[in-house]
Amino acid sequence: MNLIYTDVSKKHGPLARVGPDDLLTDDPDIIRLMSSARSAYTRSSWYEAMRLDPYVDNVFSEMSVPVHDQRRAKMASAYSGKENPHLEADIDEQIASFLDLIRRKYLSTSAVVKPMDFGRKAQYFTLDVITKVSYGKAFGYLERDEDMHEYIKTTEDLVPFLTFFASVPLANAVLNRSWVKEKLGPGPEDKKGMGKLMGVARDVVSERFGENKKEKSDMLGAFVRNGISQRQIESEVLFQIIAGSDTTATGIRGTFLYLITSPRVLNKLRAELDAAEADGKISNPITNAEAKDLPYLQAVIKEGLRIHPPFTGLIMKKVPPGGDNIKGQYVPGGTRIGHSTWAVQRNAIYGEDVEVFRPERWIEAEKDRLMRMEQTLDLIFGHGRWGCLGKSVAYIELNKVFVELLRHFDFELVNPGKPWVSVNYNLFMQDHMWLRITHRERKA
Ligand code: HEM
Repeated sequence: MNLIYTDVSKKHGPLARVGPDDLLTDDPDIIRLMSSARSAYTRSSWYEAMRLDPYVDNVFSEMSVPVHDQRRAKMASAYSGKENPHLEADIDEQIASFLDLIRRKYLSTSAVVKPMDFGRKAQYFTLDVITKVSYGKAFGYLERDEDMHEYIKTTEDLVPFLTFFASVPLANAVLNRSWVKEKLGPGPEDKKGMGKLMGVARDVVSERFGENKKEKSDMLGAFVRNGISQRQIESEVLFQIIAGSDTTATGIRGTFLYLITSPRVLNKLRAELDAAEADGKISNPITNAEAKDLPYLQAVIKEGLRIHPPFTGLIMKKVPPGGDNIKGQYVPGGTRIGHSTWAVQRNAIYGEDVEVFRPERWIEAEKDRLMRMEQTLDLIFGHGRWGCLGKSVAYIELNKVFVELLRHFDFELVNPGKPWVSVNYNLFMQDHMWLRITHRERKA
């Protein structure tokens, strides 16, 4: 889908018509205009289809602007880590668990190859991170090395439908009728699928309410302290797992694939890391602050997110009643305008070689241009009023994971001709990324 949208944007320009009342834009100014804090644009019906718990809206599917804004304000401090002093340590713990899994089961030698599907394990890592920072306890994907609660299977089954219903509002309106939900909708007592995940969410949240409630300094604890109701939190945590795990996993997989297949970049990054280690500039594990001070690492992360944005949903906004005049073009009220995210990250501001993974562009750019590149990259997280709440959590994960993997291991693709299976339905489903991993020998 991302590639088709990109072709449309390239061919038809910054406001391309893709449906009776639907436009697509790859223009950063238009995206910022629609999402800025005081914009009169609202969410379009696209978002209604993001209701995972069919009975209660989460912050991402909430259509009322004031209700959204109020809830977002109650959630923001939890996401920023202000109310969770262990955020970084919690992520370190999952990094250690990832390294441990590789050592336990997937370390190859010259004689024995034990391929690991990095696509899957990257998601196990992000799932353990989000469950740890949110619920105070990792679900143990990495420890058990399995798809706990069939979460990945359930989302992989569900996401194509979400995408269909988001694109066809009429179908979504039918699905959202209460009698349809009663007949077909999932429930927390279900043994599989979304209903089972609703049951997991209900159990996790119920520990924080009632007589024997546990008070913890994690995200859930902050939601409770900020006065979000029990039933509402159940819906939020269900969404949070998808929002926080699939996206960041794709950020890791995509960047890592480019990294291990670009020897020049890999060697340069390793040289930076080795020198920093030798100079005592990075701890074990690396801290977020130390990682931010490594220019080439930062350039690699930005370039990985640019060339392969992790989420390409249309996140369509609605033009306010009365219409709008956008860069000289009248657009009627009620029109939905979608983000062509992949195309945005191929903007001319990045240079001519936008299809090439070249972290140096972030180091060579002069100050003003760099600032505009960074603002454009930031749009992979949306913007303003609707922008991603988990951005800082995602960046802490990205700042640590590559450093720790490359410090300890060497990586090779088992099938260079078919490095992974990657399918895009807004979110990317990526697996069969088979790697041969060996212990990294250091020169004395
Ligand atoms: C690289 C990783 C990530 C990317 C690219 C990403 C991207 C996005 C995008 C594009 C949106 C929608 C913006 C819009 O509607 O205009 C969003 C919303 C959201 N994301 Fe992320 N995200 C990432 C990681 C995370 C993580 C780790 C979490 C949780 C810890 C998270 C939580 C959320 C939430 C709660 C929202 C809804 C915000 C709202 O409705 O106001 N995201 N994200």
